Amino acid sequence: MADEFASASESNFFDLSGVLDSASAGLVLRMLAQRDPDTYAHSERVSRLAIKIGEELHLDTDDLETLRLGALLHDIGKISVNLGILNKPSKLESHEFKEVQNHTLLGFEFLQHLPGLEQYAVIARSHHERFDGAGYPDGLQGEAIPILARVIAVADSLDVMLNGRVYQKRRTPREIIDEVSKNMNTHFDPQVVNAVMNVWQSGALPLIEAESEQTD
Ligand SMILES: [Fe+2]
Ligand SMILES: [Fe+2]
Repeated sequence: MADEFASASESNFFDLSGVLDSASAGLVLRMLAQRDPDTYAHSERVSRLAIKIGEELHLDTDDLETLRLGALLHDIGKISVNLGILNKPSKLESHEFKEVQNHTLLGFEFLQHLPGLEQYAVIARSHHERFDGAGYPDGLQGEAIPILARVIAVADSLDVMLNGRVYQKRRTPREIIDEVSKNMNTHFDPQVVNAVMNVWQSGALPLIEAESEQTD
């Protein structure tokens, strides 16, 4: 009888884990939006791009949700990087460049210690790894890089090229797509690049519309 009561009581508890995850993520993203609106806006665009690529790769629903939120949180470590460096209009000194690169490890540490957000920590850590192993912070290569981080790496670069940065001018959709395909196997996972090509050709890549061929 006591056992029955115990199991019935336990089953009546609401499972709040999903609610708490969303609340933590919402709070963290609000902090990012207030401190660094440009990085927040970038993260929203990266999330939209990443979802389209993830759908083309036939990721399952759980992975797509992790990808959506992981993309929103991928640059969260920038919350701890000096804004003067993040917004510096000229070329960064090498120590400044190192501080910017450190946003991967800062984001990892930050998310790893937030209950419910631990699964996004590895995305924050690995989104600047390169398929050929020449990325940072760990120099991971190929499929050793988590797939969601490989998707976000491409979506991240697409957005930076599309919208420009203080140090980099905007590029046209055709230049962007050529650049992504040129970096297949070096910077980017070829299966992710192929997915980008498919989505772009169908005209469904958010923010980047396929251009009709110029005849003149
Ligand atoms: Fe980043
Ligand atoms: Fe980014």
